[in-house]
Amino acid sequence: MQRIFSGIQPSGIPTLGNYLGAIRNWVDLQADHECIFCVVDLHAITVFQDPKVLATATREMAAVLLACGIDPVRHTLFLQSTVRAHLQLAWIFNCVARIGWLNRMTQFKDKAGKDRENASAGLYVYPNLMAADIHAYHATRVPVGEDQKQHLELANDIAQKFNHDYGVEFFPNIEPLILGPAARVMSLRDGSKKMSKSDPSDQSRINLNDDADTISLKIRRAKTDPEPLPSEPEGLVGRPEARNLVGIYAALVGTGHAGVLAEHGGKGFGQFKQALADLLVDKLAPIAAEATRLLADPAGLDAILRQGKERAEAIADPIVTEAERLVGFLRP
Ligand code: AMP
Ligand code: TRP
Repeated sequence: MQRIFSGIQPSGIPTLGNYLGAIRNWVDLQADHECIFCVVDLHAITVFQDPKVLATATREMAAVLLACGIDPVRHTLFLQSTVRAHLQLAWIFNCVARIGWLNRMTQFKDKAGKDRENASAGLYVYPNLMAADIHAYHATRVPVGEDQKQHLELANDIAQKFNHDYGVEFFPNIEPLILGPAARVMSLRDGSKKMSKSDPSDQSRINLNDDADTISLKIRRAKTDPEPLPSEPEGLVGRPEARNLVGIYAALVGTGHAGVLAEHGGKGFGQFKQALADLLVDKLAPIAAEATRLLADPAGLDAILRQGKERAEAIADPIVTEAERLVGFLRP
């Protein structure tokens, strides 16, 4: 069985976009992989986080992942900063990766913006830590969004250089599982922008802890155009808001756009939005309820995450200890 590793940043309540684009996929991968999932708090502080906000967001992310169906009994869910092996291997990788490689990372350029000199050193070496996350477990498959593909190529370059420099076949090649743009959910206020937990407008997204009334209201207020729904997918061209709502519906029921339009084509948005809101409430309200239940029992949630930490350490510690031996570190 292939081992999967993936991480998600605790940067706010996850949205419907995170759910359809990433989390739901993680849940499905559990059926035929050994999965290790991680809330990456070390990555989060590459840009300053208020400590209280970070702590809250970390708990909320863990609770939502569990509520969505991540199974902490058959698989592993933990907080990145609780397993020291990530940092130990990241330091070695800081010394393996070349500055020229990091200079090509487009995410650093995007996140640092114009004021590069003022970005944290952590933001710059972020991809080395991400490589360490994966290689500390000898994971071979990594589900991520398209934007992370370049970081996985770097993780493979690091593994190859380590193996070459130390004359070993120690770190395996990893295979990205790119979660396609088909699952891309757009803002409810602007069909050309990605739905994001960092958008200033809460009306632009469905949060995974929104209650039924909030979900219905946000869908009712979602931006649309005055035309009725087309009966063929071609009719969605040039109508990004209509396309987005149809796409969300399609992703939730598991049919393509064509299937949704065969059923709802010709209807006005008033009617279609009602059907979409009902569907969303049906799928998401149980997740919100379960997340609320988990957050109301902090000791229970801590126990799950401690168990995850112990399992993660049982895999990562021997691998990282061996990497340190290969590098030439003494353990007197
Ligand atoms: P982020 O919230 O940007 O840290 O992304 C975490 C994960 O969720 C990544 O794998 C993204 O590709 C995925 N994701 C985030 N927003 C969306 C969206 N609007 N549609 C689809 N996937 C998304
Ligand atoms: N950088 C990833 C993101 O922002 C999160 C992440 C950290 C990750 N470590 C990882 C993803 C390891 C996959 C594997 O989405």
